[in-house]
Amino acid sequence: MKVNFDLKGKVAVITGGGGILCSEMARGLASWGVQVAVLDIKEGLASKVAEEIKQSGGKAISVKADVLDKNSLVEARSKVLEEYGKVDILINGAGGNRKEATTSEEQSFFDLPEDAIQWVFNLNFLGSVLASQVFGEAMVENQSGSIINISSMAALRPLTKTIAYSAAKAAVTNFTQWLAVHLNHSYSKNLRVNAIAPGFLLTEQNRYLLIDEKTGKETERGRKIKEHTPMGRYGEPEELIGAIIWLCSEAASFVNGVIIPIDGGFSAYSGV
Ligand SMILES: NC(=O)c1ccc[n+]([C@@H]2O[C@H](COP(=O)([O-])OP(=O)(O)OC[C@H]3O[C@@H](n4cnc5c(N)ncnc54)[C@H](O)[C@@H]3O)[C@@H](O)[C@H]2O)c1
Repeated sequence: MKVNFDLKGKVAVITGGGGILCSEMARGLASWGVQVAVLDIKEGLASKVAEEIKQSGGKAISVKADVLDKNSLVEARSKVLEEYGKVDILINGAGGNRKEATTSEEQSFFDLPEDAIQWVFNLNFLGSVLASQVFGEAMVENQSGSIINISSMAALRPLTKTIAYSAAKAAVTNFTQWLAVHLNHSYSKNLRVNAIAPGFLLTEQNRYLLIDEKTGKETERGRKIKEHTPMGRYGEPEELIGAIIWLCSEAASFVNGVIIPIDGGFSAYSGV
């Protein structure tokens, strides 16, 4: 039997597609023949990624969209359908953390501003729900599709300091399982919803926690992360792509409602 990883001609919508990890996913999918729609609240970032893809022979469009504004997502869906006629894949990549929603020596738990906690929770959780409503509807029309959410190691057991981010990613994990069941029960047995849970990659959203801004040296937290990652290093964005290709393809046709850790063994290690 030949395992089918073929994605040629599929259409993928990637929210937060202008960011570090999701631009890599956009490039990765495009290199497998996927027609990509790069959505981002920052139009410039999205169009840069789409241009790069086109220049290397792939198919891509960029669309400015805010995952917290349903009207903006509905408009984005119209543009994607106008260009490509369908949606096969949705990657809910828009997400992240904010310093103000993180405890530190300067900022106690008791003083964390409510609006910062709400911001992080909304971006990661509500942003995934709204985009799944809008693009999931287009998949239901086609009676086929694959949604991939981005959870995190912070979802399995909360990380110190990142209270809102950990809670929001736990909600993303929970939502992944919920939506997988709901779409199958209510709409089609041919819809799948899964998530990846990346371990630690050094990116703009966590740099302030892993590298000391003043000295440029690794923080105690950065050191601990590597110590608790059996492979002894941070991951690279391109190391997420294999799982994305697999989850989007027919090769994963019976994989539904799961959260795949891509973490160098972090979640397997008890620390002893
Ligand atoms: N970096 C890591 O180590 C790591 C680990 C686990 C999970 N993740 C998750 O992976 C995803 C991507 O992370 P990243 O490190 O590439 O972050 P990033 O900040 O580079 O990318 C996020 C993108 O989302 C966009 N965005 C922000 N708000 C938006 C909105 N309201 N609507 C549309 N787009 C919006 C940003 O403009 C940005 O381009 C996030 O969900 C993040 O939480 C990252």
